[in-house]
Amino acid sequence: DVKGLQEYYSSYFTMGVAVSPRSLASEAESALIKKHFGSITAENVMKPGPIHPAEDTYVWGPADQVVEFAQANGMKVRGHTLCWHNQTPDWFFKDENGNTASKELVLSRLKKHIETVVGRYKGKIYAWDVVNEAVPDSPEGTYRDSQWYKIVGEEYIARAFEYAHAADPDAILFYNDYNTEQPKKREKILTIVKKLLADGVPIHGVGLQGHWSINDPSAEELEKSINSFADLGLTVQITELDVSVYSNSPEERSATAPQAGVFTPEREQKQLERYKMIMEVCRKNKDKLSGITFWNVSDRTSWLDNFPVRGRKNFPLLFDQNLQPKKVFFEVTSFE
Ligand code: XIL
Repeated sequence: DVKGLQEYYSSYFTMGVAVSPRSLASEAESALIKKHFGSITAENVMKPGPIHPAEDTYVWGPADQVVEFAQANGMKVRGHTLCWHNQTPDWFFKDENGNTASKELVLSRLKKHIETVVGRYKGKIYAWDVVNEAVPDSPEGTYRDSQWYKIVGEEYIARAFEYAHAADPDAILFYNDYNTEQPKKREKILTIVKKLLADGVPIHGVGLQGHWSINDPSAEELEKSINSFADLGLTVQITELDVSVYSNSPEERSATAPQAGVFTPEREQKQLERYKMIMEVCRKNKDKLSGITFWNVSDRTSWLDNFPVRGRKNFPLLFDQNLQPKKVFFEVTSFE
């Protein structure tokens, strides 16, 4: 009988997983979550859209359920996410006449949102992804041209961290992003984070989302990212790990790529090797990393099955569609 993933990694880091209220309600899935993981993240229900759909409306039920599940089972909770350009309702950015809101109004709403959400779970959520994906992939521009940036300017990032820190001074506050191993994007994130630190902004960690594939990241670039953020005195976590059985080439990532899920033995082998390398690099750098969170529980339901291609199965996790550990599970848990 296999041990839980968290048990194999007990002397390394907290192993976490993204959950939905649906996965917690399923007896088989919740059993798997309890057995293998020490931390959970709400896949969607704590995002601004679901939790705060209108200025005077908060929807707490599903988020409370996630926190209560964790407490009942002695698990930690990572909060995801407070300030993002996606899954954020338009009311944040409009005034009472439906025009673009002023900087002051947008910041006061961000403050209220963060105070209320972080305040509600004070002491129960140990880490928050405060700002998510503020950096664009395109070579130009350090800051993503989001509504936050257009209306408030770069200052929204510092303010978000300050509001979160005021609401729960013990929470570990993260900047979180994807493609953090690509040198140009890493440089931009470093620029932002260094500036925040120089200005005394309460930021404590950087989350590498870790939506990887059969051909990225390389061990060198992954290690370089971990080191460059840790060198600033920040803790690092892999916050949304999955390894696609497709490559990150434009053809295979395009929304119009063929639908058919081709889970060939070759792809499975490449995925296994990539996972093995990633976990090796993480274990080697255990003093700099404080957690690894998988994005979804098993290949039965992964967000990648609808992104970027709707309806293309992806098989990116350690457990198969029947919730059984895959070959790759045994590979990443067999080490000295
Ligand atoms: C994804 C969820 O998994 C999906 O269910 C949802 O439809 C879209 O968002 N980066 C993030 C996560 O920070 O919040 C995203 O989660 C995946 C990419």
